[in-house]
Amino acid sequence: MQQVADRLRAQGKRLAVVPTMGFLHQGHFKLIERAKQKADVVITTVFVNPTQFGPSEDFSRYPRSLEKDTQLASEVGTDYVFAPPTQAIYPDGYRTYINVEQVTEGLEGKSRPGHFRGVATVVGKLFHITKPHVAIFGQKDAQQVVVVRQMMRDLNFDIELIICPIVREADGLAMSSRNTYLSPEQRLQAPVLYKSLRMVEKLIHDGERSSSSIRRQMSELITKNSSGVVDYISIANAVTLEEIEVGKGNVLISLAVQFGNTRLIDNTIVQV
Ligand code: PAJ
Repeated sequence: MQQVADRLRAQGKRLAVVPTMGFLHQGHFKLIERAKQKADVVITTVFVNPTQFGPSEDFSRYPRSLEKDTQLASEVGTDYVFAPPTQAIYPDGYRTYINVEQVTEGLEGKSRPGHFRGVATVVGKLFHITKPHVAIFGQKDAQQVVVVRQMMRDLNFDIELIICPIVREADGLAMSSRNTYLSPEQRLQAPVLYKSLRMVEKLIHDGERSSSSIRRQMSELITKNSSGVVDYISIANAVTLEEIEVGKGNVLISLAVQFGNTRLIDNTIVQV
């Protein structure tokens, strides 16, 4: 992959990378299409990264479909699919990890210790391997965006970072490879995450400023209308991820809700 990237760069081509864990859906396709607009060559990586999964998480059952992914990825504009075996990324004796401080501590980081250490490490490695000019990520994983941006700044990655908006199903559920885990009943209830975010947008628009009141109302809506168990609801500064009261500036409202064994996340940024 590094040799291919070197050759393309020598030809003066602009390279974009779209890192994914595969089982591609419309959300991923939008990133690939955006990549195609921003670069001459699109590299889509497909790698279910073991280091970002906790010991009791879904690494082994995470859905995989490399053949179909390769076909779909090329149909929407991917030139190269990079899908290394685990051993190629973490060979025996692997010892080095990237630890981004502070912005990894709350939200997902709190519920999933070590998750962002795995994400930062693999994204850093994928950058070194694919040598892109541009990297495309989705706003679906809001904290991941903050962590990757911080890592890129701190470690001098000379790559343009582009973030694409969240792609949703018709009923508002944010697309995710993990949605396939949901039972038919859970699938019907899952749009409650999106509904709770729309409700907050309206509450804030109508003048609500108390974070604890917003959290309480979101939690109530979710609990009344689904079997989902709220893991966290966060109202945070969109840049630093510090928990705040709603004031002036961009507020990131994000949440994680557990449906049985399936953990769903969603978020919105509200401008006040
Ligand atoms: P994965 O969950 O496969 O997501 C790959 C990229 O697609 C991420 O940037 C994610 O934010 C984006 N994405 C997923 N669902 C989306 C949606 N509904 N709308 C918009 N974008 C969406 O995120 C990862 O993989 C991994 O952590 C990775 C960065 C590849 C590192 O292993």
